[in-house]
Amino acid sequence: MVRNPQSLDQIDFWDLDMFADGDPHAAWTMLRRRAPVWYHDRPGGEPFYAVTRFDDCRHVHANPVLFSSERHGIVLRDAGAMALAEAGADNPLERNKPMIHTDPPRHQPLRRVISHNFTPRAVGRLEEQIRGYARSCLDDVADKRDVDFVTEVAHRIPSAIAFALMGVPAKDWDRLAELEHITVSGTDPEFTHGDSVADAQAAAGMELFGYFAELVGQRRTDPGDDLISQLLAGDVQGQPLPWEQVVAEAGLLLAGGLDTTRAAASAGAMLPMIEHPDQWRILQDEPSLLSSAVDEFVRWASPITSEARTVTGETELGGVVLRDGDRVVVWSPSANRDEDHFDEPFRFDVRREGNRHLGFAYGEHYCLGVHLARLTLRVEFEEILSRFVSIEMTGPPSRVRSNFVGGLKHLPVRMNPR
Ligand code: HEM
Repeated sequence: MVRNPQSLDQIDFWDLDMFADGDPHAAWTMLRRRAPVWYHDRPGGEPFYAVTRFDDCRHVHANPVLFSSERHGIVLRDAGAMALAEAGADNPLERNKPMIHTDPPRHQPLRRVISHNFTPRAVGRLEEQIRGYARSCLDDVADKRDVDFVTEVAHRIPSAIAFALMGVPAKDWDRLAELEHITVSGTDPEFTHGDSVADAQAAAGMELFGYFAELVGQRRTDPGDDLISQLLAGDVQGQPLPWEQVVAEAGLLLAGGLDTTRAAASAGAMLPMIEHPDQWRILQDEPSLLSSAVDEFVRWASPITSEARTVTGETELGGVVLRDGDRVVVWSPSANRDEDHFDEPFRFDVRREGNRHLGFAYGEHYCLGVHLARLTLRVEFEEILSRFVSIEMTGPPSRVRSNFVGGLKHLPVRMNPR
């Protein structure tokens, strides 16, 4: 196992220890320079073309018909997933594909059912609610001082808002978050408690499906102003969404909103600010910079590590001919450190301007929750910077063992109140 690859033949993106303990940027930097669209064929899973330069990654996102999300989905399939697919295993959450796994022309009408809830204006109305969650979370932290920043802060604030928007009762938040970690990051044994990834993910998928099916049933008879009720009230070309489609979109909102924002706050903000205290001081002196600094948090962490697509016709990318059925993988953390696109991309800079990164993707599937994520991160760090004079690391951080959604799972810190 090579955790810090030095040559192309040492690169293996199925080696998840590289993502947990090694340096995947060593692999991506080498690929950007030497083989920006590179055929990766290793025993751990499906073969694919690794796309590592900013312009090529954006080109894939900008052509959603040629690079399909619907055919075989956006998640890289390891050997276990390939075996299940070949055996025709049923994932109930995928019986009706959520919008992220659909292509034009199906995709936009589905997205429009709830997209008005995610405009800057609609999201802006949530600011006081988010601030309330942040304050109550930080009250607990200020009392304890020694905390795990990931589980006790970075996870709690965005998950509270996502669950509240979906109308999930607070008593169920912890269990649903556990299930979400298994479905999104099941390759990390900490989340599956030693069970096989495939078994744990199948069981978590069934439980989530059952949970949301029941919640959808309740909202049907007793609608509220939550997103699930809106999905039920919405239609696509005059037809109401089948209840299984509503369940699938609920699963997507859960998967989309939790670990991503958590990764941006921890791996993209708190850890680099501890490592570069001058950046912490800049924001303390000038908190108004946070409105743009949140994009540096997202660029730095690039929470969604890989986005897979299937080619639907012959084309060329980065000088390489791709054919119908080929899988390509956009590595956003690589695009977001591309020297041809960013000045000093390996410098964490909260003052960075014109920060047009691909952390929220681009084009057709551009993150629906982008304004919510930015607002949550801004409010969270406004509250942190105003209440705590300094933050020290009290133990080593640990990274998620995954090539799909990255970030930290633990960051032990002492938070010193003013
Ligand atoms: C820092 C936090 C976040 C990051 C980095 C992020 C990143 C992304 C990315 C890269 C995609 C596109 C994936 C692809 O092209 O295959 C995406 C899509 C999506 N995100 Fe986010 N996301 C974040 C927060 C959120 C939040 C808070 C929500 C909602 C609660 C959300 C909901 C969605 C949805 C529904 C989609 C699918 C959009 C579509 O297919 O049209 N995301 N996100």
